[in-house]
Amino acid sequence: MSLELRGITKSFGALVANDNIDLKVAAGEIHAILGENGAGKSTLMNIVYGLVQPDKGEILVDDIVQKIAEPSDALAAGIGMVHQHFMLIPVFTVAENIVLGHEVSGKLGSLDLHNAKAEIKRISDEFKFDVDPDAIVENLPVGVQQRVEIIRALIYDAKVLILDEPTAVLTPQETDGLLEIMRKLKSKGTSIIFITHKLREVKAVADQITIIRRGKIVGTASPSASQDELASLMVGRPVELSPDKSAHPMGEVVLSVRDLRIEDSTGRALVKDISFEVKTGEVLAIAGVQGNGQSELARAMINLEPHIKGSITLGQSELVGKSVRQSLHEGIAFIPESRELDGLIASLSIAENLILDLHDMPPYARGVQISPSVVGSEAEKKSKEFDIRLQSVQDPVSSLSGGNKQKVVLARELSRPVQLLVASQPTRGLDVGSIEFVHERILAERDAGRAVLLFSTELDEVFALADRIAVMYRGEIIKIVPATVSAQDLGLLMAGVEHA
Ligand SMILES: Nc1ncnc2c1ncn2[C@@H]1O[C@H](COP(=O)(O)OP(=O)(O)OP(=O)(O)O)[C@@H](O)[C@H]1O
Ligand SMILES: [Mg+2]
Repeated sequence: MSLELRGITKSFGALVANDNIDLKVAAGEIHAILGENGAGKSTLMNIVYGLVQPDKGEILVDDIVQKIAEPSDALAAGIGMVHQHFMLIPVFTVAENIVLGHEVSGKLGSLDLHNAKAEIKRISDEFKFDVDPDAIVENLPVGVQQRVEIIRALIYDAKVLILDEPTAVLTPQETDGLLEIMRKLKSKGTSIIFITHKLREVKAVADQITIIRRGKIVGTASPSASQDELASLMVGRPVELSPDKSAHPMGEVVLSVRDLRIEDSTGRALVKDISFEVKTGEVLAIAGVQGNGQSELARAMINLEPHIKGSITLGQSELVGKSVRQSLHEGIAFIPESRELDGLIASLSIAENLILDLHDMPPYARGVQISPSVVGSEAEKKSKEFDIRLQSVQDPVSSLSGGNKQKVVLARELSRPVQLLVASQPTRGLDVGSIEFVHERILAERDAGRAVLLFSTELDEVFALADRIAVMYRGEIIKIVPATVSAQDLGLLMAGVEHA
């Protein structure tokens, strides 16, 4: 099935998010869309899927103009979409989630649980998804949950599948699995629109590449183009994909973690009595396959985890037992893994989010009075510095694109005068130009004498920023190595092979 967009235009107030976009996706083609944060990719896809109405333009499926007023119209026309934020209900089974989706979009006829299970099994076998219809969704790894979303689209017989940044939250192994699934879907004739910021993935699977900049199509590229070429087409200037990390003297130990143990509510240890230190002017990266205790360790640094034993000292202060707020005030900047959950308050403005947790300090506050003009002008300054694409700093932060939301958290946390920066997946969802900028900023923090604790599943990022790398495996730090370690040895360590 082919998909064609003609003259799609969409404005939000004065901002033209999509400007007269023409796009053709042939049957059985993987078509990648590349573009900077805020370029208009998600808006365009939400229009195709019926979540957003365009001001102008037409959507054609097999050369026939479609009327797509809501997602059920898109599904009926054979268009499915997997969003970056999964829409599954965690406590329900796979089959229940899929039946539920059907009920919501009633036009497509009903599907009972029994039939659903058989269908799930059929699709799962056909594409080797390995999904159990009776599994409870919250017990499944993210990569499998995503396959459930894909099954949900396929069960409606989607012939065009939209994947909006599907790999942002996947491990490298899960990503490879997804790319394999995409190839298989393609071989059975499904067309795929693939949005990602990772150029390696584009080169690995795409047949066609279209580049969008500030709402307009600025060109196409062949998958044989180099990553550097793709990067500069996207951003409109050359991008340095690996930053300059100069040798830098380190100072005294500022963060000391001793025998830290983190348990879940049932008393099971997620992090097992680990110890490490970070000096001023040093970046210590915590690497490891997702799910080996890194997320809990990161959250524990500001006491976001409820069951912590052992000691975390920052300078002279013991942090364990303090509140989140007190911990931050001791001098920690914190970039959380999940910006939506821990980093932003959706109902507040961009300006307010830029000063969260700082609002009771000067220069924003005079006594108990917050000074709106200072908040506003600081916000203007930070959004320019971090190139946050917005209309007004007074708009709700929820109106921003995914990557620009991340930039709000970064702009706030990277401008705080602190001793320690804890950064979890700091560049998740960012375009290559913004990654370059954020990497430079993190190295500048280090060079200014801060201690940096970096959590990243991106090995490129770990190598680009780290002075030393601590590898976590099953809740323990199995080894701390200098950043000169080879990628192969690091890979072995991450797989739990201690003597790499
Ligand atoms: N509901 C909305 N109200 C106001 N502005 C919006 C709304 N939705 C999107 N925008 C704006 O439209 C522009 C395009 O956003 P979009 O989400 O399509 O970008 P994107 O290319 O998907 O970026 P990213 O890579 O960061 O996900 C952004 O400037 C965004 O702030
Ligand atoms: Mg987007």
